[in-house]
Amino acid sequence: MNKADFLQTALAGRRLTPMNSTGEQFAPVNIALGKYWGKRHFSGNLPTNDSLSITLPEHGSSTSITVSDCDQVQLNSNAVAASDKFHQRLFSFLDAIDCQRPKLRVSTQNNIATAAGLASSASGFAALIGALDQLCNWQLSQREWSILARIGSGSACRSIANGFVRWHRGERADGLDSFAQPINTPLPGLAVGLLTLTTAEKAIGSTQGMQQTLDTCPLFKAWPEFANQSVERLALSIAQQNISALLAEAEHNAMTMHATMIATQPSILYWQPESVAVIQKVRALRAQGLQLYLTMDAGPNVKLLFHQQDSQDVLAYFPTAEVILPFEHS
Ligand code: PMV
Repeated sequence: MNKADFLQTALAGRRLTPMNSTGEQFAPVNIALGKYWGKRHFSGNLPTNDSLSITLPEHGSSTSITVSDCDQVQLNSNAVAASDKFHQRLFSFLDAIDCQRPKLRVSTQNNIATAAGLASSASGFAALIGALDQLCNWQLSQREWSILARIGSGSACRSIANGFVRWHRGERADGLDSFAQPINTPLPGLAVGLLTLTTAEKAIGSTQGMQQTLDTCPLFKAWPEFANQSVERLALSIAQQNISALLAEAEHNAMTMHATMIATQPSILYWQPESVAVIQKVRALRAQGLQLYLTMDAGPNVKLLFHQQDSQDVLAYFPTAEVILPFEHS
């Protein structure tokens, strides 16, 4: 199956036929506490393991779509050239949805650092599918929304709800059982600190990184089983309201994923000197008794994880951190 096959299977006969003048949708960013790394099918973004994320409810992408006389896209109020890979990726995705679609004007505003490890492609694809749903009156279920977003970018399937979200890896070849579901158990004392160390584009995209890991990493054999068990432990910590256990497991999960990246040939190292300095500082503070942990994705930025009650201490040590309380928002 290619991308168009996966999309059309999930769309179940729906076409990209506008029924309204415009479609608009906001979708939030999510940060994986249990990571997705490894695909069992590349075009469908079907993962080798379950993953689990926390949504940052006020950070994300707002997308609006209208019919136009030519394909055009604006990103953060700037027109994107047709030769740009962002433009090409977007419109080839829309062609794969419906090759007879009308020309479209897409406008996306991201209030996050694009391509710097803060997963704007996740919120971007989730917002895009939501906006198409509004434009075409598709009346997608949350599960269908998640599946379609997944085909755009794997982790986008988790950007469909607030709170904790779990992506079930699924087993079917058509991907219809590979979708994300909210875990309706809040954990109000949880805090996330965003440290934007650099906004440089990442060196290797996640798809290429995953391919290289599958092809060359000797440690990868152990990853899917570890990752699935780790997601079970994360889910248990949430059910038991045990923030400390959740944070420790999340850091262990991220470090294990990065170990598989580092052990590829050639080695993939997303960390910059600034990232390593933060890792060392977090460990030193933890040795002094502060319950401070971290997670990192396919980029150099670090996300701090801690108890809300420690926010002032964390800010004293990391004054540039943007503290987010995922369960306290308007
Ligand atoms: O959805 P992608 O292809 O951008 O992959 C995301 C991979 C990680 O961010 C490293 C992990 C995750 O689960 O989000």
